[in-house]
Amino acid sequence: MSILVVVGAQWGDEGKGKIVHFLARKAEYVARYQGGNNAGHTVVVGKKRYALHLIPSGILMKQTKNIIGSGVVISPRAFREEVLGLEKRGISSRKRLFVSFGAHVILPYHILLDGLREESGRGIGTTKRGIGPCYEDKVARIGIRVCDYLEPETFKKLVVQNLKIRSAELARLRPLASIEKEVFADYDLLRRFIAPYAQDTSLLLSEAIERGENVLLESAQGAMLDLDFGTYPFVTSSSPIAGGAATGSGIAPASVEFVLGVTKAYTTRVGLGPFPSEMEVKRGDYLREKGHEYGTTTGRPRRIGGLDLVQLRHAIRVSGINALAVTKLDTLSGTGPIEVCRAYRWKGKTLTHFPWSRKAQGEAKPILIRLPGFNGNLASARLFSDLPKAAQDYILWIEKNLGIPIPIVSVGPDLKQTIVRDASLSSLADFVKP
Ligand code: IMP
Repeated sequence: MSILVVVGAQWGDEGKGKIVHFLARKAEYVARYQGGNNAGHTVVVGKKRYALHLIPSGILMKQTKNIIGSGVVISPRAFREEVLGLEKRGISSRKRLFVSFGAHVILPYHILLDGLREESGRGIGTTKRGIGPCYEDKVARIGIRVCDYLEPETFKKLVVQNLKIRSAELARLRPLASIEKEVFADYDLLRRFIAPYAQDTSLLLSEAIERGENVLLESAQGAMLDLDFGTYPFVTSSSPIAGGAATGSGIAPASVEFVLGVTKAYTTRVGLGPFPSEMEVKRGDYLREKGHEYGTTTGRPRRIGGLDLVQLRHAIRVSGINALAVTKLDTLSGTGPIEVCRAYRWKGKTLTHFPWSRKAQGEAKPILIRLPGFNGNLASARLFSDLPKAAQDYILWIEKNLGIPIPIVSVGPDLKQTIVRDASLSSLADFVKP
């Protein structure tokens, strides 16, 4: 039995979907613990490509049960669309997907408020899925949880109350009556749809743990988008770091045995905000096209940068990451020498720890080191020794400089393109054995 947390070690889009899909082969349960349908986990199975936003990537493994935990914010409309979309492609969620009674629901007015704030001139480049405003309601103790959504009387009362509370902002957009109408337009349909999935998922997980099953807790986004430890205020409104796994799923923190961080072999970021290792446009453009670096949820082009050791050390520390999976190593092939950021320069000082202030984060310049690049088609490599020597050296260099093992290297979207270098690492072993 093992409890494993998989976190993003950068700004999201690290390839967690594929890694979780790979590890889910050995998991009885996969649980998402934060975020909402702002996430975009792309998973390739054979010739089919799935873009999951809300449902854990474990859904694509037939034997795996999946949980949307209480730390997640759930749009009932997006939930229904995603479940039906999977059903159309032959993947049933019945009796293997459970939604926490405690997850907060995203309603149309959250999406309107998200859009309004983004257009106010103080936007941060959100996905406009209503994530921030829904978490705001949760913290303000006026949120509507799935258990409240399932009770029509409670739901109606809360909606009327919340529209009043938000009326000053909302009325600038549309008459309140029309927003209320939109909230109730498909309410019955959505309530009936979500009802069979709703459960005390904390209880399900603790029973699974008692039975000695393998449980994988899956983050969305990444450490640098964490509300507390990311590049605030250019962050998401939840806790993607490993600490969020316990609060967002309702399991004991001490039961988490292993934290696997996922990082690309370079760095990307969507949305606005500091990005110290961002590359000059031309090289970034080339990598963006080669690596298909466009947002899964919004289609926005991702900003591209070199691997950033300062940022990764920060992510490793705040999540207690035990080991890293490095993805998209193949994308770097043929792109020339590899530039890695080993420290920052700010106000004449060398910074080796990620700075807190937004000014320092925004102004810090990367101190780069150049490593030999590599060529050739890495996509067919199945063993570490199949990789070009310089590609192997790059992985070994990262391992040495971060002081952390890299047991998994991914060289393409297919499960077969996953190189397991070390299948012996404590609890991770239960998930990577053949
Ligand atoms: P929100 O989560 O939609 O509120 O957006 C807040 C910030 O997080 C923005 O910079 C988004 O681009 C970013 N973000 C949210 N979800 C993801 C994701 O799944 N991958 C990458 N960035 C994301």
